[in-house]
Amino acid sequence: MAQPKKLFIKTYGCQMNVYDSSRMEDVLKPLGFETTDGPEDANMVILNTCHIREKASEKVYSELGRLKNIKKKRNDDNEMVIAVAGCVAQAEGEEISRRAPYVDMVFGPQSYHNLPEMLAKAHRAGDGKGRGILMTDFPEEDKFDFLPDPVKPEGYTAFLSIQEGCDKFCTYCVVPYTRGAEYSRPVAHVLKEARQLVEQGALEITLLGQNVNAYHGDDGRGGEWTLGRLIRELAEIDGLERIRYTTSYPAEVDDDLISAHADVPQLMPYLHLPVQAGSNRVLAAMNRNHTREEYLEIIAKLKAARPDLALSSDFIVGFPGENDRDFEDTLDIIRQVGFIQAFSFVYSARPGTPAATMDLQVDKAVANERLQVLQKLLVDIQTKFNEDCIGKEFPILLERVGRKDGQLVGRSPYMQPVHVEAPVDLIGQIRDLKIVSARPNSLGAELKGTAAK
Ligand code: 5AD
Ligand code: SF4
Repeated sequence: MAQPKKLFIKTYGCQMNVYDSSRMEDVLKPLGFETTDGPEDANMVILNTCHIREKASEKVYSELGRLKNIKKKRNDDNEMVIAVAGCVAQAEGEEISRRAPYVDMVFGPQSYHNLPEMLAKAHRAGDGKGRGILMTDFPEEDKFDFLPDPVKPEGYTAFLSIQEGCDKFCTYCVVPYTRGAEYSRPVAHVLKEARQLVEQGALEITLLGQNVNAYHGDDGRGGEWTLGRLIRELAEIDGLERIRYTTSYPAEVDDDLISAHADVPQLMPYLHLPVQAGSNRVLAAMNRNHTREEYLEIIAKLKAARPDLALSSDFIVGFPGENDRDFEDTLDIIRQVGFIQAFSFVYSARPGTPAATMDLQVDKAVANERLQVLQKLLVDIQTKFNEDCIGKEFPILLERVGRKDGQLVGRSPYMQPVHVEAPVDLIGQIRDLKIVSARPNSLGAELKGTAAK
């Protein structure tokens, strides 16, 4: 038998990229590839890249520099193919081959089902230098029709991509350009993949999409399903205990989705609903399609449907034109909603987006200061939320052994890591556990009947 070839995929950016990387593994496994932990012994290295902020993009070129040195030492019997995938590949295409001519292939998020064909081409081209294979079209065909059945990653939680692309054109964002127009996978495909994941042992599925609540999947009967409808149907799958979805767009939260939060117990009471900023002026300049008041009203409706719901968000500080007052409005909305988790960033001007050429770009030092203030507030709220969990009982999905002997680590409904002393045979179960301690980033729990004497 031929020696297995080794594959190393380095993933940057969002959960959609994490999903895409595991699907690339699924495509390459039948060609004899096994995954490895680093580039040193890899025969194929894929950088699955993120273009959302300048820092994320630039990381790719420094990583490529390191790979070049490893590749130089290889020969024909132990070749190394270097590929750049994902959103930097989509956005920069040929520029990558120009800056890093030793790269063999560059392909966007809609092309990775063609990996076998690209590899065959690379081998025909064969001289060990860069082979210049470029695939960054948005093909007519649906890549999902060409991908093999997914192999669920180890563990009890799985991602399922149901929607891709974005038509919202927030003025700072590259996603509509790198991921293309909104597209929803047909209902039947989503349900089939979900059933397979559950059969393979998934207890929790996170539905993924750049704009997941804009989902409008073809139902095969001339109609379309919303996300709310899809969630209700998924909840019927025996053995699927937890459903999550991310990332949502506030202006697309409809009544059907809100009522799913009331009716579907499997839908976790934790929602990532990025608001980005709290000032109406800034929200308008960002083209977010909602005001702060409208956002707060959506939250009120969601909480009326599911009173134990908690929220997380993304924030951008230092958007062009943001003044101290605007920033205060952002702090204020954070206090009002009490976001228990958040990703926050200094605005990064992205080439080709409308905001990049707006007047009144904010001084970097000012933006960094604002970021510090905002992050401190978020940490305080998160710490307080965790402390308030003490004494409560939550269902915890026990996922793996912990670092300490006899300890297991699980996840609460709110995604908090939870440590508990418990026997290993509880791994893969959801148990109601009492929370007994809190840290800024995790909780400690106790199995019933095991309290210290
Ligand atoms: N600068 C800073 N942050 C950005 N994001 C998107 N584009 C930019 C940008 N140009 C943030 C948003 C988004 C998250 C994924 O990344 O907060 O929700
Ligand atoms: Fe980017 Fe806005 Fe689309 Fe989100 S909704 S992906 S921030 S354009």
